[in-house]
Amino acid sequence: MAQDTLSVTDNRTDKKYELKIENGCIRAIDLRTIKTGADDFGLMAYDPAFLNTANCKSAITFIDGDKGILEYRGYPIEQLAEKSTHLEVSYLLMNGELPTKQQLEDYTSKITTHTYVHENIKQFMDGFRYDAHPMSMLGSTVAALSSFYPEAKNVKNKDVRRLQMTRLIAKMPTLAAFSHRHSQGLPYIYPNNDLGYTENFLTMVKSIGTTKWKAHPALVKALDILFILHADHEQNCSTTATRVVGSSEVDPYSATAAGIAALYGPLHGGANEAVLRMLREIGDVKHIPEFIKKVKEKDGDKKLMGFGHRVYKNYDPRAKVIKQACDEVFEVTGKNPRLEIAVELERIALQDEYFVSRKLYPNVDFYSGLIYEAMGFPVDFFTSLFAIPRTVGWVTQWEEMITDGEQKIARPRQIFTGQRKRDYVPVEKRG
Ligand code: ACO
Repeated sequence: MAQDTLSVTDNRTDKKYELKIENGCIRAIDLRTIKTGADDFGLMAYDPAFLNTANCKSAITFIDGDKGILEYRGYPIEQLAEKSTHLEVSYLLMNGELPTKQQLEDYTSKITTHTYVHENIKQFMDGFRYDAHPMSMLGSTVAALSSFYPEAKNVKNKDVRRLQMTRLIAKMPTLAAFSHRHSQGLPYIYPNNDLGYTENFLTMVKSIGTTKWKAHPALVKALDILFILHADHEQNCSTTATRVVGSSEVDPYSATAAGIAALYGPLHGGANEAVLRMLREIGDVKHIPEFIKKVKEKDGDKKLMGFGHRVYKNYDPRAKVIKQACDEVFEVTGKNPRLEIAVELERIALQDEYFVSRKLYPNVDFYSGLIYEAMGFPVDFFTSLFAIPRTVGWVTQWEEMITDGEQKIARPRQIFTGQRKRDYVPVEKRG
């Protein structure tokens, strides 16, 4: 009869072991019982970059990478992108259910009343060089927020936790907008709490010299859809960074700053910036074959940025939604001339044996940069546009980790490959 166990024979000792299988996993700690003798530490699992290791149980986001499925709390991303708003999705992620009308109003009002930052934060941001990267500014400033809210250390208290989560979601657009204004040498625009979350952000970024500036509703909608698509993505690099740092029970500002640092990298959220730079470098459709050739030959470690994903081995469902959103944005802004290059790049890559055999498809970052560029955002601001909506994902995952009785401080093992005990040699005797 079938049993939910794994029978293992250790050929070193001929001993047999039964390991329990639960949720398609064995517990790595059970491997420790497999020993060659009393002095043996026990077997470990070696898994650099967590290719096949579940680090937590989570009820927030579901991904089926082979089928291209992404769901937040069970709701398909396509439906949420079409019918919901970023704040409603944020509520859903944080609370597990879609809000009632009243709950949504209360939640919106709570977020709206926390959009302001302490005036000292402005001075703090002024200290950055004129050309500081907005992600460096964002990460440092979010880390600095912990010094403004020392009570945030009380991570075991639900009310305290929820207040910091609200603050982080509410203040992130303000901080991102301030970092942009700083890099442009423009005065900061304070939040306008009469505006919605995304419209307010756009206004803080774009408005100059008039109180009448109004974001185009189609662009507000498109950016809000992009925010929904980026809100969470289960145990990705930045979320794992947030969980790992948060597992030390540090405050959520410090943990979120770790998430921002991870997102900054070109293999993660920094890819949207890298895609745009790549499209600019290619410059013309006629240069695509030569570029693809270099990628395939791994010339100078060149990659087709915006392609490939650790989990999706089929089309990234977010990329599909973004491709549709492109049309609506370009109707307002005019077509981004680089769209033609992107579409042709995708067409060629999707029939090329190199990409097909490695299951490399466009990911969320492949088309998002084109929209951001068409909307007039500078390239180095793109990753901040990812960090704003991902904040709800980071803090929700952080809270799930803090309240999970099975979690402890994250502390992996290693396989030691260095020198063992040797005697110290005084400097004058070293050859
Ligand atoms: N262009 C060309 N070749 C690629 C690409 C790419 N974008 N991505 C992977 N490959 C190749 C690798 O060189 C490797 O080839 P090999 O088998 O000949 O050695 C093979 O495909 C497998 O790739 P891995 O690097 O092992 O895949 P991994 O799961 O570790 O990496 C990652 C995933 C980091 C996303 C990778 O595909 C990549 O670097 N893509 C470009 C950057 C990017 O778009 N990142 C955004 C990801 S989405 C997000 O974070 C929001």
